[in-house]
Amino acid sequence: MQIITDPGQMQAIAEKLRLSRQCIGVVMTMGALHEGHLSLVKLAKQTAGTIIFTIFVNPIQFGQNEDLHKYPRPFEKDASLAKAAGVDYLFAPEADSIYPENYQTTVECSTLAERFEGELRPGHFKGVATIVTKLFHITKPHIAVFGEKDAQQLAVIRRLVIDLNLDIKIIGAPIVREDNGLAVSSRNIYLSSQERSAATVLYKGICHASKRIAEKEKDLHAIASEIEQMIQSTQGCRPDYVCFVDDETFEPVETAETGREYRLLLAMYSGTVRLIDNGKIQA
Ligand code: PAJ
Repeated sequence: MQIITDPGQMQAIAEKLRLSRQCIGVVMTMGALHEGHLSLVKLAKQTAGTIIFTIFVNPIQFGQNEDLHKYPRPFEKDASLAKAAGVDYLFAPEADSIYPENYQTTVECSTLAERFEGELRPGHFKGVATIVTKLFHITKPHIAVFGEKDAQQLAVIRRLVIDLNLDIKIIGAPIVREDNGLAVSSRNIYLSSQERSAATVLYKGICHASKRIAEKEKDLHAIASEIEQMIQSTQGCRPDYVCFVDDETFEPVETAETGREYRLLLAMYSGTVRLIDNGKIQA
């Protein structure tokens, strides 16, 4: 596995790979790697012959009160995990080579990026859309894999690829969970053991929704309220939002239509740690 820090050098390698007819797959991360990240590599390898893996803690997607400076950066460990997963090129640039002095250009998605995570974290998806677009131009992939764990981010990226005519196939990867149902996340390290076990209420909420839909309950708003109640009555937990949406537009949906598929979005605090989760629900 070759480690590259210079965007120009990464671009030159990607161009050469394209000229030699290699199918390039990219997996983008902010590091602190876990099973969720590595599952994306596995999925990318099913389609692409060469895997470029990026690690970059993108400053412009963090809000002022967020954890940019304390975000974990275990680079050596990450590099060995990426290598073991079969990554060919690890691209890990410095912030000033991505955003040099006088940097002025951003990519912004509108309606889709304004609700839920976008409403709570103003500017977050503009930061994500900007870095993802830049990394697409640097790594020149044919395919890119992103996790369904961040469902709204995935929807924003699918939207930007369509809107900007990018010739890249976006593949969504299923959420990797611990045995107790908790979605694997770099931020889980901030949870105490009590908060961690309380956080499993998110997955219980998703299972509850599936069960209620199977019972032919059509009132999605009522099911969401039941899940909010479950969160509220779990020690140390506070719901942020629980909502069923259309998977493509992220428009809230109130009533289930048989045969359609929805996404249940959940965000809550366990202690002071904010967690998000989601599940696909077939009505
Ligand atoms: P990061 O949070 O490091 O996540 C990198 C990728 O791993 C994302 O596509 C995310 O959805 C996926 N992922 C995280 N946890 C997962 C899990 N439990 N199961 C499956 N996939 C999981 O998302 C970002 O970084 C950044 O916003 C980025 C896209 C890299 C832009 O900076």
